[in-house]
Amino acid sequence: MTASDTTSAAPAAQQLQPTPSQIEGPYFRLGAPRRESLIEPGTRGEVLMLSGRVLNPEGKPIPNAVVNFWMSDDEGNYDMIGYDLHGYTVTDAEGRYHMEMIEPACYEPRQAKHIHVKVQGDSRPLTTQLFLSDDEGRLRDRWFLPELEVKIEDAANGHKQGTFDFVIAQVTEKDNVTKASLDGRV
Ligand SMILES: [Fe+2]
Repeated sequence: MTASDTTSAAPAAQQLQPTPSQIEGPYFRLGAPRRESLIEPGTRGEVLMLSGRVLNPEGKPIPNAVVNFWMSDDEGNYDMIGYDLHGYTVTDAEGRYHMEMIEPACYEPRQAKHIHVKVQGDSRPLTTQLFLSDDEGRLRDRWFLPELEVKIEDAANGHKQGTFDFVIAQVTEKDNVTKASLDGRV
């Protein structure tokens, strides 16, 4: 019998890798509305239904997390007056979100079509961006990371669909927050 055979300690739970943060870029603005779709009358482009979950590093779903998207239109331009293609949703009790959007264009100096997003639970906001598996330009983009790629598939309704799960750390006992905050966290 070796020393390792005698240990009764349970193996450490598998931790999920936190979603990497990325640049915010110059176009984020406060005040975007809560909505289930970023598409309005007149919005051009290929429709994409993006969905997924927000999880903590232990894999537990985080309800009531804010998932705030902003993106360029199909010509690579951002709306800096209103909130075209900008809005947030909130995860349900199972940590799920859905947002209807388009596949954005890319624009100089970027090489990739990308979806900007901020995700916030009982935590600081995570700012990052998502890339699309059907966009070859992503491979030439200096910010591309495989961990941030959404696998794009054709949906039955002729639109595109993709899923992406965000993993964000929540506040811990080390943080200076109230007991109620710690008791309420996922
Ligand atoms: Fe951008």
